[in-house]
Formats: sequence, structure tokens, C-alpha cells
Amino acid sequence: MRILIDDADLTKIEQFFDMYPYDGVTTNPTILSKTGNPDPMDQLKKIVALMPEGTDLHAQVLSTETDDMVKEAEHMTEVLGKGKINLYIKVPVTANGLKAISILSKKGINVTATAVYGVMPAFMAAKAGAKYLAPYVNRLDVLGYDGVKIAIDIHTAVKAAGYEAEVLGASFKNSQQILDMAKAGIGSVTVGSEPLSKLAYNGIAEDAVKAFIQDFEGCCGEGKTMLDFE
Ligand code: E4P
Repeated sequence: MRILIDDADLTKIEQFFDMYPYDGVTTNPTILSKTGNPDPMDQLKKIVALMPEGTDLHAQVLSTETDDMVKEAEHMTEVLGKGKINLYIKVPVTANGLKAISILSKKGINVTATAVYGVMPAFMAAKAGAKYLAPYVNRLDVLGYDGVKIAIDIHTAVKAAGYEAEVLGASFKNSQQILDMAKAGIGSVTVGSEPLSKLAYNGIAEDAVKAFIQDFEGCCGEGKTMLDFE
């Protein structure tokens, strides 16, 4: 399962890539606005500069009319799509968005269908040619639906139909939701900084290591490691 960083903060992105070989970065207009940079293209270019070669960047259009979405996606592809990363244009699954997904896919632009709040919209986006389908797992939970189940149902329906699209599970609050995606064989997840930092940090293991060091130093001397012995 691919794991992407759902954040636009440069420091955090750099730290995450330094800590673990994550598969890319996703943003949305809200995430970009949190950086305080009034030039989102500048922020996205800076993000690309930090990303390892061959990783994926997902960035979203703001337009709501089909033709405008297509123009915006083409502009973003022109500006951001020529470098070392794989660019995916996020298009919300509205009626106009579905039409844009179909047009963009036929033009060879990679599309991630976003703002997915149900199985049927995801299925329609897959049929229209989207490469990724991003169900908002935790937002669905907050609304009283079962976000994990909806993401798994999307995965099942799309695979049964033989579409190319993969689920990119989004909007997570905890590791359990992400583990449920992995167990279901879901292709990708994008995870915000808070839950993401918990994935690569296991507090119980950290405590166990502290106890090992304390015991070892009690016998062999402070600061000693195996390097000090032959
Ligand atoms: C995906 O990229 C979504 O925009 C994002 O995961 C939404 O997350 P949130 O529900 O935490 O805002």
C-alpha cells in the first residue's frame, strides 16, 4: 500500500521524507491555505523540490465549471507536470467534475477523483477514467457513515468491474483506519501529519529500547554500545 503525506508544510514534508520513504504528497485548497503562502503554485513548486524522484504529487483544481476545471488542470500540468514527480490533478466528484474527469483522462492527464462521499460517485469517477478515488474516511465517520466500509466497498466494486482506478483512502484520524485499508488490499492512503507521525513512531518500542540501554549501561558503562567492545 502506498502511503502519501497529506500536508503542504515544507518543514514537515522534508522531515517525513527524511524519516521514511513515503510515496508522495497530497494537498487540497484548505491544506495549501494553512501554509499562509498566497501563491499556491509557488508552494507546490517548493514541495516538488523536496520530493524524491518518482513520487506522486496530487493537487486540486478550484474551478467548478467543467471547461474551467479542464483549463485549470491543463495549466497545473504545464507548470508542475514536467519534473521528476508524477502529477495527479484532483477533481471533486460533482456532476461537472465527472465530465471534467472524462475529458482530462482522454487527454492523458492523470486524475484523482476527490471529495468522494459514497460508492456510487467513486464508481462513476472510475468509469470516467480517474486513476485514483479518494474517499474521505474520517469525514464519513463524522457524518455517521462507516468510512472504512465505504472505502472497502469502493475498492471491491472497482476491482469487480475491472477498472484501472485505485482507492486513495483519505481523511484519517487514527492508525486503525489506515490498517483497515491495508488489510483490505487498498492501493494507497494519504495521511495528515498527526496520524502520520504515529505510523512511524511506536511508543512501546521506544520505551523498551530505553529499558535495554539502562540495563546495558548499568553493567557495561554509561554511553557504551557494541562498538566499544571487541
Ligand atoms: C485528501 O487529499 C483530502 O483532501 C484530505 O485527506 C481531507 O482530510 P481532512 O478530512 O482531514 O480534511
